[in-house]
Amino acid sequence: MPITASGPLPVGAPETGVHAPPVPALAERVGWLGLLGAFRRNTLEAFPRACLDEPAVTIPLPGSGRMVLLSTPAGARHVLLSATDDFVRLPAGRRVIGPIAGNGLVLADGEAWRHQRRVLAPAFTPRTLPLMLRFVARSAEASCRRLEAGLGAPADLRAEMQRVALDIATTSMFSLETGPLGAEIRALVSGYLDRLGKPTVADFLLPPGWPTPSSPRRALFRRRWLRLVRAVLAARRGQGASGGGGPRDLFDLLTEAHGAASGGLLADEVGTLIVAGHETTASTLFWACTLLARAPGWQDALAREAAGLDLTEAGASASLARLTLARAVAQEALRLYPPVYVIARRAARTSQVEGTAIPAGSIVMIPTWVLHRNPRWWDRPETFDPRRFLDRPEPDRFVYLPFGAGPRICLGAQLALAEATLVLARLMRDFRLALDGDRPVLPVATTTVRPDHVPRFHLERRAG
Ligand code: HEM
Repeated sequence: MPITASGPLPVGAPETGVHAPPVPALAERVGWLGLLGAFRRNTLEAFPRACLDEPAVTIPLPGSGRMVLLSTPAGARHVLLSATDDFVRLPAGRRVIGPIAGNGLVLADGEAWRHQRRVLAPAFTPRTLPLMLRFVARSAEASCRRLEAGLGAPADLRAEMQRVALDIATTSMFSLETGPLGAEIRALVSGYLDRLGKPTVADFLLPPGWPTPSSPRRALFRRRWLRLVRAVLAARRGQGASGGGGPRDLFDLLTEAHGAASGGLLADEVGTLIVAGHETTASTLFWACTLLARAPGWQDALAREAAGLDLTEAGASASLARLTLARAVAQEALRLYPPVYVIARRAARTSQVEGTAIPAGSIVMIPTWVLHRNPRWWDRPETFDPRRFLDRPEPDRFVYLPFGAGPRICLGAQLALAEATLVLARLMRDFRLALDGDRPVLPVATTTVRPDHVPRFHLERRAG
């Protein structure tokens, strides 16, 4: 049953502003080389159209391997919830993200994963959210000041949203202002994702543990990255403990959880949290701005909603619950442009899913991108319409899964959604924005979903 976006208008939601942003068409036919090659160019062009109708699409790989795309809620539920131990991290994921995340939570499996998740989880509960939101409010304020100073010239909101997201990651983690270390983190992470972080055919096809042509350069990157993370940790340690007034930041929460002994793993968890939280949130904010730029009615609605609310460090946490329209816009941006647009696993043992045989060793993909845009589950799926997240039951958690689902669901989901909501509310309260020119902004997915060019925005100060 499609999740309808029509029906009575929720309070405050504008009637206008519904539009369908352009996206690449799904592929009519895909072979393994085309699919794996597209992982480097633009994966969105390679998902087969058949995924819209068929619960499982199998693509044979060289040798006896195969890739199975599961694009129904039942398939997603099986892999992510019912049989989690049968589906483990993909060696390609380890090769691609490993240089940043090392042995951190995002790449761990089995008992190690269970232990690490138990250790990290207390730092991401609703109880710690207000602490984190103070840093979000501060970074949003700084962003608005920077944009204000640049008024009159075209703005690069992609770079600005990356800056805000990284500011939030580094300040909430280390209470450190994003000084030279922050700039270095940003340069290293973006440089990595742009080049060495793009999956290659060898990443997918070579057996676990085998080196690929990218391995030496990734190893070199890993050494630079670890040096940088250790420098950040040393700078934060230099500031001492919180002084008895409760945890000051994520660093306090993590060291409390890890104990002083596990320095190596702490560096990997820090690397994991920076990479998991920074690019994904930046991408969500950027696409939300691009969508809002073509929906002035929604911009006005968000500005009205935020007017009069306290969005400062002191009040942001209390105001969050009242930002329902901003939250719906963030959720809709996550539906249309999920930063993690596919969830991938390796079958650890042979099984049967949705009537399809999945031999051990198969690559299993849950294409969030396709699930989020299938007319079987969504009414007019190509349109930007945040009303689908207002005044109605939450969508099925295996139809809408920007943060994954099941026991490995994103640890930072609540934080990320709160972050996107607050930053959007703050931006819309201060500014009106429009895209400079008519050139469509097309999504290109490699590691996350990025724009095909860097669009410029025109910003105008909102009166009052
Ligand atoms: C809009 C922003 C974000 C999106 C769309 C997102 C999405 C996801 C998804 C889809 C997964 C599951 C991947 C899988 O099952 O293979 C995941 C896992 C994870 N995310 Fe996020 N994430 C976001 C922000 C964050 C933030 C802010 C943090 C922390 C500060 C974070 C930390 C993690 C961690 C640690 C995992 C691994 C969990 C595990 O394996 O147990 N994420 N994220």
